[in-house]
Amino acid sequence: MSENRRILVTSALPYANGSIHLGHLLEHIQTDIWTRFQRLRGNECYSVCADDAHGTPVMLKAQELGITPEEMVARTRAEHHQDLLDFHVEYDNYYVTHSPENKALCEEIYTRLDNAGYISKRTINQLYDPQKEMFLPDRFVKGTCPSCGAEDQNGDSCDVCGATYSPTEVKNPRSVVSGATPVLKESEHFFFDLPKFEDMLKGWIRSGALQEEMANKLQEWFTEGLQQWDISRDAPYFGFEIPGAPNKFFYVWVDAPVGYMASFKNFCDQNNLEFDDFWGSDSEAELYHFIGKDITYFHCLFWPAMLEGAGYRKPTGVNIHGFVTVNGAKMSKSRGTFIKGRTYLDHLNPEYLRYYFASKLGDSVTDIDLNFTDFAQKVNSDLVGKVVNIASRCASFITKRFDGKLSDNVLEPELIAEFQNAADTIADLFERRRYHQAIREIMTLADKANQFIDTNAPWVTIKDETKQQFTHDVCSLGINMFRLLVIYLKPVLPVLAEKAEGFLNDEFTWSSLETVLTGHAINKFKPMMQRVEMEKVDAMVDDSKENLEPAKPTVNPDSPLGKDPISETISFDDFAKVDLRIARIANAEHVEKADKLLRLELDLGGETKQVFAGIKSAYSPEALIGKHTVMVANLAPRKMRFGMSEGMVLAAGPGGDELYILEPHEGALPGMRVK
Ligand code: MSP
Ligand code: ZN
Repeated sequence: MSENRRILVTSALPYANGSIHLGHLLEHIQTDIWTRFQRLRGNECYSVCADDAHGTPVMLKAQELGITPEEMVARTRAEHHQDLLDFHVEYDNYYVTHSPENKALCEEIYTRLDNAGYISKRTINQLYDPQKEMFLPDRFVKGTCPSCGAEDQNGDSCDVCGATYSPTEVKNPRSVVSGATPVLKESEHFFFDLPKFEDMLKGWIRSGALQEEMANKLQEWFTEGLQQWDISRDAPYFGFEIPGAPNKFFYVWVDAPVGYMASFKNFCDQNNLEFDDFWGSDSEAELYHFIGKDITYFHCLFWPAMLEGAGYRKPTGVNIHGFVTVNGAKMSKSRGTFIKGRTYLDHLNPEYLRYYFASKLGDSVTDIDLNFTDFAQKVNSDLVGKVVNIASRCASFITKRFDGKLSDNVLEPELIAEFQNAADTIADLFERRRYHQAIREIMTLADKANQFIDTNAPWVTIKDETKQQFTHDVCSLGINMFRLLVIYLKPVLPVLAEKAEGFLNDEFTWSSLETVLTGHAINKFKPMMQRVEMEKVDAMVDDSKENLEPAKPTVNPDSPLGKDPISETISFDDFAKVDLRIARIANAEHVEKADKLLRLELDLGGETKQVFAGIKSAYSPEALIGKHTVMVANLAPRKMRFGMSEGMVLAAGPGGDELYILEPHEGALPGMRVK
């Protein structure tokens, strides 16, 4: 890498129709740590983000609230921005995609793509809500699964059998917007010629722009074949009109990534920066997008192709992270683990979360589990118990006995050198987004600092008149070790670093690591961080519990029975046909390309069965392995897109995220019959 790096960093643009939650925050914190690290190193690094304003969900939500989409987006943008600032996530610009800069850039990019022959038009048939007079995106159609007959399934996939299909295949379809029966209607759509970019994309994907595992995954998309991409939507749609095509709008995923450019453009115009230095086809600057794994397709196929086709540079890297789970399961509104940023802030210090995420984040796309017990334990033991403790153990002696000044001596130069020599390793780990390893290195040093203080026990030597110099030297070295640790942690914990800077009369940059403070005046130590209290975590979870809306109450609206009355009676013989068995979940894993399914291997104590269960929304595979549950063992095997499903596991709940698998009492063994 060259000396004077110029870097532009982005996080994915949050949709303007919901609040920032802990899942979003993983990404913003990951980006912010990286940006702060680059700046600490002295690189020229900018970061931009924005609210993603356009699309049908935003439009409908605004209608529901009785305000214009512009008004709603303005409100949400302000709210999102404040939430992020309160987590100390600082972008150079937090803009919005519904902006003049974005409109101009979208029009320019589209025109260039069109002129180069990458745009074509074709008439397609689509479901249309005749009452609401609008075309329906897949997720706004519901109906009966064409494959298994389950009712009330989504327009594109079935929760029960896992089938995926086109909304036009759904039986008894209805519009989620109005309840009306949709009709098929023709409309002319605009398509972007993605297949033309196949060779370029294959090269780009292997250019080091992607994590190895993601590059391999993308390979599958080429094997399946690239398709023409539908980039237009019909009015009514909240978005930008396509030039020369009245009532046709850019699909939100066209203008959203262009929003990265637009946010930066807006920043450049106010700060005398050259936009083209960063986006021009011959740009030497580095460009990184931080995103979650769910939006890889958009960022690694469509986006680089659009940029290339329109004569702009492509990203240096797309950094992809996994999803946040809470206590081993997908975030759930009913369990109180779908936690909004604001609710967290009402109860807990944002730096706890920054530290915890940093201690778990690597450069892979594996999911990150936020386990509250682990969270409290890690923050309390590492930050409060190790790092801050070093300063609090040494500072008062310096203030009370040594005139508030550090010693002129460095007692153990080798020990300090060890702290300083870790700089390259730690820098490399931050650079490569292996934050968890960087944190481990830093904590190993913190342990050494504490050992040094324990061994030399300044609280004992301070009482010995002949050992005053020694005590002064020990405490001063302790303070210096604390200082170096906090410099390393500054990208993660900017507020703690600021407090330490105030305490030490210093300002930390990466080159501060080269110095040791001697004969230097420090200030009175003030507590820098409180312990995490579990009661506050519990209160946050309670505040996050949302009562799900009752669906058509018939008996008692508050009881599950009210929502789901008991079915008609069956005979004992009918029941006896169902062979229920205890099964041990020997293995559980994600199923590629299935949104709802997990693949389970069920051990029946002599036989193993494979079952695809629609429980992904409620459980992570790791949380299931080893558990005992109940299965229907004699269900006729069904061939699914992903393989054979040889039974069914039993789970209770109203559906959606709220789902609980049955677990027998201890003692029940795999294979035992349930009767
Ligand atoms: N608006 C699009 C992005 C457009 S970028 C040109 C979008 N918005 S989003 O609000 O749904 O998601 C924003 C980011 O948050 C995405 O990178 C997404 O992967 C990430 N996350 C959303 N939920 C998440 C978790 N539970 N865990 C981790 N990241 C998650 O997609
Ligand atoms: Zn089905």
